Amino acid sequence: MYEGEIASVLVTEQQIQDKINELAKQIAVDYARDGVHCDLLLVGVLKGAVMFMTDFARALPMPTQLEFMAVSSYGSATSSSGVVRILKDLDRDIAGKHVLIVEDIVDSGLTLSWLLKNLASRNPASLEVCSLLRKPDAVKVDVPVRYVGFDIPNEFVVGYGLDYAERYRDLPYIGTLDPKVYSS
Ligand code: XMP
Ligand code: MG
Repeated sequence: MYEGEIASVLVTEQQIQDKINELAKQIAVDYARDGVHCDLLLVGVLKGAVMFMTDFARALPMPTQLEFMAVSSYGSATSSSGVVRILKDLDRDIAGKHVLIVEDIVDSGLTLSWLLKNLASRNPASLEVCSLLRKPDAVKVDVPVRYVGFDIPNEFVVGYGLDYAERYRDLPYIGTLDPKVYSS
């Protein structure tokens, strides 16, 4: 698949699945009081977080409910501007709920900091973030990402939900693209 278009594999399928199990165990502990789990509402950010969201929800040893939001940040294909528009809002009120935002990647952190403010204004009982990937620039801005799968180098990545021009989302691993893909 995608013969010759992937330059390198940054995170393998096995590494992703192992990390998801590790995060799921930790989160199940963090969201329990006296051995009783609270109801957790996962908010997945479309479309990039879809693969992570579905694997993660099934790995969590506790009941969860799934919601999705789609946002678009004005900017070029490979970088965001921080001006965010809601393409699809949540279907439900999150007031009083324990909300965990499930993200594919935090890059500049601009999208996420906007999303955090937006969801916090709806008065959830708690609000945290779990992102599969994080890039170095994200560490510079003040976005509290409680759970991170992998810190990766500052390169554009695809796979496992992440796309370039809507392609490569279906890859089971995270990789970088061959430069020829950008120039064609
Ligand atoms: P910011 O910069 O606001 O970016 O943290 C968040 C959103 O930008 C997308 N993004 C990427 N998508 N490969 C992708 O396919 C990347 O390397 C990448 N970096 C950022 C992504 O949608 C993320 O939620
Ligand atoms: Mg995204």
